[in-house]
Amino acid sequence: MRSDTGQVFKLEDYRPSDFRIPATELTFDLAPERTLVTAELTIERQPGVAAKTPLVLDGDGLTLVSLAIDGEAAGAASFRATPDSLTLRSLPAARSFRLTIVTEIAPAENAALMGLYLSNSVYCTQCEAEGFRRITYFLDRPDVLSVYTVRIEADLKTAPLLLSNGNPGETGELNGGRHFAVWHDPFPKPSYLFALVAGDLATVSDSFETMEGRKVALGIHVEHGKQDRTTYAMDALKRSMKWDEERFGRAYDLDVFNIVAVSDFNMGAMENKGLNIFNDKYVLADPETATDTDFANIEAIIAHEYFHNWTGNRITCRDWFQLCLKEGLTVYRDQEFTADQRSRAVERIGDVRTLKGHQFPEDQGPLAHPVRPRRYREINNFYTATVYEKGAEVVRMIQALLGPDLFRAGMDLYFERHDGEAATVEEFVKVFEDAAGRDLSQFFLWYQQAGTPNVTAKARYDEGARVLAIDIEQSIPPTPGESRKKVMHIPLAFGLVGPDGSDMDWKAVDGASVENGVIHLRKRKHALRFSGVSERPRLSLNRGFSAPVTLSVEENRADRIFLARHDGDLFCRWQALNTLMVEVLIAAANLCRDGRPPDFPADLVALCGDIAADESLEPAFRALALTLPAEADIAREMGSNIDPDAILAARTLLAEAIGSAHAQAFAALYGALDSKAPFTPDSGSAGRRALRNIILDYLAVSSGEASLAARQYADASNMTDRAAALTVLATRHGESTDKAEAFADFERRYRTDALVLDKWFQIQAAAPGPAAVETVRALGEHPAFSLTNPNRLRALVGTFSTANQTGFHRADGEGYRFFAEIVLQVEKKNPQVAARLATALRSWRSLEPGRKALAREVLLRMSSAENLSADLRDIVDRTLA
Ligand code: PHE
Ligand code: ZN
Repeated sequence: MRSDTGQVFKLEDYRPSDFRIPATELTFDLAPERTLVTAELTIERQPGVAAKTPLVLDGDGLTLVSLAIDGEAAGAASFRATPDSLTLRSLPAARSFRLTIVTEIAPAENAALMGLYLSNSVYCTQCEAEGFRRITYFLDRPDVLSVYTVRIEADLKTAPLLLSNGNPGETGELNGGRHFAVWHDPFPKPSYLFALVAGDLATVSDSFETMEGRKVALGIHVEHGKQDRTTYAMDALKRSMKWDEERFGRAYDLDVFNIVAVSDFNMGAMENKGLNIFNDKYVLADPETATDTDFANIEAIIAHEYFHNWTGNRITCRDWFQLCLKEGLTVYRDQEFTADQRSRAVERIGDVRTLKGHQFPEDQGPLAHPVRPRRYREINNFYTATVYEKGAEVVRMIQALLGPDLFRAGMDLYFERHDGEAATVEEFVKVFEDAAGRDLSQFFLWYQQAGTPNVTAKARYDEGARVLAIDIEQSIPPTPGESRKKVMHIPLAFGLVGPDGSDMDWKAVDGASVENGVIHLRKRKHALRFSGVSERPRLSLNRGFSAPVTLSVEENRADRIFLARHDGDLFCRWQALNTLMVEVLIAAANLCRDGRPPDFPADLVALCGDIAADESLEPAFRALALTLPAEADIAREMGSNIDPDAILAARTLLAEAIGSAHAQAFAALYGALDSKAPFTPDSGSAGRRALRNIILDYLAVSSGEASLAARQYADASNMTDRAAALTVLATRHGESTDKAEAFADFERRYRTDALVLDKWFQIQAAAPGPAAVETVRALGEHPAFSLTNPNRLRALVGTFSTANQTGFHRADGEGYRFFAEIVLQVEKKNPQVAARLATALRSWRSLEPGRKALAREVLLRMSSAENLSADLRDIVDRTLA
């Protein structure tokens, strides 16, 4: 484990490398305890670099076995090797020379899951961001692009499958029961895209013909016996390949495309050139073991990694400050793919919920950073919701500013101009400026300034003059290291909704800020006037969530109810209802805290019933609309002095009020949505299941009867319905035999299938209440649990700390203490995962004083632990700062 050096990397310090590595030949002699890696590097000094300039290669925990320059063993005086670097001082005078580096590594000991490691006896690699330096000494930076040839040697019996990037070459048998395979990737790539897999896996094959007529062999490699669970992933892959051709004109460029599912993986998946490596959770699915959410995640992540082939691989990042260049753009692309494959409105609402649930708290807390950060201590900690999700929003805004045709022209120019390069965010924005003839300099602040802008709006209607005046103001709260903010360019799509629910006509009096249904805020304050408005309209603002801002419109409840019923923009309908719910829940939580019973407005309760029954709306939308804001969402909107117990109480009471008001209608709807048809994962069927399951939740909470959920659990023909019933049993009912039996049954059925059992861990970890800490602690002793497997950890400890507000934030601090114990244990083996877990404490300052003090105590305890890794040190220090 690399411990913290305290070094801070800064964007302004970027310098191009003095050396290039045009060709890299790697030979792996694989064995669990001792793998020999031979790297033959062609090194080239950049023009103008003096011959005496030393070559410093990156390493991380490496053992050097031998070193040769142009075939001659290097003299001990000519280099210096430490585990973390290899420095060569006397180099050949020729511009180009060859280095042969042999290192020794132990994949079996690698618990950090970075570099080359073993997962279930399968050799696999993870090199982004800086894992390649754990394999061999290299210029491990994304602007050093090299053509790789890889030879893998391994045991034929235990590792019959040998994969690397690019196209397959020679294969053959070797002495001693070993064999080899050679792979060659013709596309120059940075080291973070290198990958190798060797093991005994089952292969599912298919093929795809590109629009250019290239036949591509597709392979998905999974644990034996799991082949049947790859059907959906393969289908999603082929649809992704087709979509990128149709939507962006991008075809695949190699003869093969391989996907490998591994069970130990720090993140979701990795876009290594031609060889994507996946967390098995995002590949394996069938109706019996995966929920609709799993299917949707698989589709999105398969697409995401595939789309990286152009946005990330063919055009990569100059340095890690530019991470959003590939991630924000690729998230935007996968969101568009899902919108086209499923329902655009439902996808948008889901994406905004994710953004608000993950990115807004980040942007509003101590870990806030710009979409393109300017400094970091540990790059692993910058794979954040800001870089990914807000990064995608910024690309979406560019498309909204330019319109679809100019946006596509800009993307075409991007591929044409930068193919084969390591690019910057400036270069990305420039292609749109050039394609559209626009100046995007003020817009560029979206990449540079952290913080969620606040936008307030107030409308006044002058009946006599038929004029609507709107005053809008923007402000951006200070964030760490940025106390003064510049005024941003904020595009707000809008409509004026008339009394019949349809959009009204208007004429902008001062046209400069209003264009094609979008208000462009470019100043701190705007006073806008619209004439020819025949009646008092309701203002529908930030349609489709055109800008990632916090919006407060001064309007009365009746207007908001009206918009929730009639707005032509489905996103805004959802938003209006959600805002109403949040307002009501905050008021109720404040009453609950004082021990006073809240009372819920009848118009809101009635509206929920109407939406549930509205057949003109797709079921998935109705399900989203009926989903009450999560406890964490309510807390975020409250902002300070948060008492999670009061929030839970308020939320439960509102669910009860809605459920009992519509008990009969909901029971009928629940029955009507019961489908006897065989399971299909399509979005229409998933939407009906989602609606039925949210109705089940209302029926359960209002009746207090466990029998309905117990029956659904027992009768379920798919995991979506089964897991939903189990969740209702866990959250809505106290201890009962129904509940105990269902949980015991689930464990019996799936105890040998860790991925499925994760749902069992997750549902219990999320069940609210003070006993959760003890439950989770006990589950930590379950034989299927493991501190070294990231999926298990996230299912149990991750869920507990992020989705169980009352358990994690238990008033006596026991939740925090348990959490810190685990984080410190995990940190010793896998610092990256520990650091990510630790971000669960980032909003500690908004808690009420008692919990705040306890959270601070536990953060200080972590901070004073000995030998903290760079990863955890960075998160804890910034959280406390
Ligand atoms: N680049 C991966 C993705 O978003 C994420 C990742 C980062 C995976 C670092 C592993 C390590 O597609
Ligand atoms: Zn990505």
